[in-house]
Amino acid sequence: MKISVIGCGYLGAVHAACMARLGHEVVGVDVDEAKIAALAEGRAPFFEPGLPELLGEVSGTGALRFTTDMAEVAGSQVHFVCVGTPQRRGEYAADLRYVESAVDALIPHLRDGDLVVGKSTVPVGTAAGIAERLGREAPGVSLAWNPEFLREGFAVKDTLHPDRLVYGVPGGEAGELAVAQLDEVYAGPLSEHTPRVVTDYPTAELVKVAANSFLATKISFINAMAELCEETGADVTRLADAIGYDDRIGRKFLNAGLGFGGGCLPKDIRAFMARAGELGADQAVAFLKEIDAINTRRRVRMVDLAREVLDGSIVGKRIAVLGAAFKPNSDDVRDSPALDVAVQLARQGADVRVTDPEAVPNARRLHPELRLVESLDEAVVDAEIVLLLTEWQEYRELVPAELAEKVAGLRILDGRNVLDPVAWRAAGWTYRALGRP
Ligand code: UDX
Repeated sequence: MKISVIGCGYLGAVHAACMARLGHEVVGVDVDEAKIAALAEGRAPFFEPGLPELLGEVSGTGALRFTTDMAEVAGSQVHFVCVGTPQRRGEYAADLRYVESAVDALIPHLRDGDLVVGKSTVPVGTAAGIAERLGREAPGVSLAWNPEFLREGFAVKDTLHPDRLVYGVPGGEAGELAVAQLDEVYAGPLSEHTPRVVTDYPTAELVKVAANSFLATKISFINAMAELCEETGADVTRLADAIGYDDRIGRKFLNAGLGFGGGCLPKDIRAFMARAGELGADQAVAFLKEIDAINTRRRVRMVDLAREVLDGSIVGKRIAVLGAAFKPNSDDVRDSPALDVAVQLARQGADVRVTDPEAVPNARRLHPELRLVESLDEAVVDAEIVLLLTEWQEYRELVPAELAEKVAGLRILDGRNVLDPVAWRAAGWTYRALGRP
């Protein structure tokens, strides 16, 4: 099929490359010239495992091109809208301006029989509004809402082999046609028996925010237990193992630590609260406020723990922060817990050096005031305390005796509960973690 993808960020660039990999002829469009130039040369504009290889593979076939010219979407039968919906400055609600401008730019190039497919995470009710507009301005064009559940770090795999497909479609014949078109797009994953849920617009929109709210709730639940473990001397990692054996609960997403960040979970739960408020249903998701608060408290607790271990003051103390990305295998620093902690420590007078295997350039753009260094050695030299805040594999594999030779004080805080306390203590370190004795 001929497919266009509007918006080539973490979601769109991966989607475009994967659609080409599934055998379609794809054009990716974005207003960011630098991003398009990189993609057109087969380079990924952000760190995502497997994406450079995939771009190399599909660029050679001529099945994938990138442009800043929206007119080039003409001739595509299916148009995916993959633009961002960030949190509005100073508010909880989502900023829909990129979705609106994508639709504005797209409409003049649509032809009868085309299908517009929304993938962006939007407040419930957005699809119905866009469908109404298409009905007025491009009456032969249909709309489907097809939320995306990819995880950064696994984006290529999650797109080529999704765990489910959700189609929100209109009723009647238009809906049947949209389902048939989407089935053709996803013929590859469907042949692997991927479950497919066909539903209406509001359900499809809600599926996405409900899924992310549930994941956020799971993480904050275990972090709330961590708070109690800290008061009682219990160990939250053992607690998670034990409750996780109940397969109704499951062990996944029960890793206590510094909590969730990134471009999705935090802003999605906030946008959900804002939308529920507009609908007069704020009580239904009032618990998300607590989920958000538990999450934010972990960051404060980490700063307090550093102060405690440094005998009551961090002022002027050399602190090494390992990790700036919101999670490993990503260079994304949006709402990163690690970076947030580093910024708080620096603001409170500590001499902080932050490093990350991939996210230093993005972190530097966001926080030019922070001292960001390229290597672990530069970060830990003369450090009185080391904070492991993003669990990259190379930090998980640190050898206590080797690190001991580089630092000034043998103190380590494990913000992700990934180190072995016994080994670190045996090597003479003061080891502390969130939710562990
Ligand atoms: C998330 C959803 O998983 C994905 O389905 C959706 O499409 C987008 O949002 P992503 O933001 O890539 O994906 O990250 P995810 O792997 O879900 O992690 C989110 C955050 O939660 C990270 O900061 C991570 O460190 C944290 N986390 C995750 C925990 O603190 N504990 C856990 O047990 C799991």
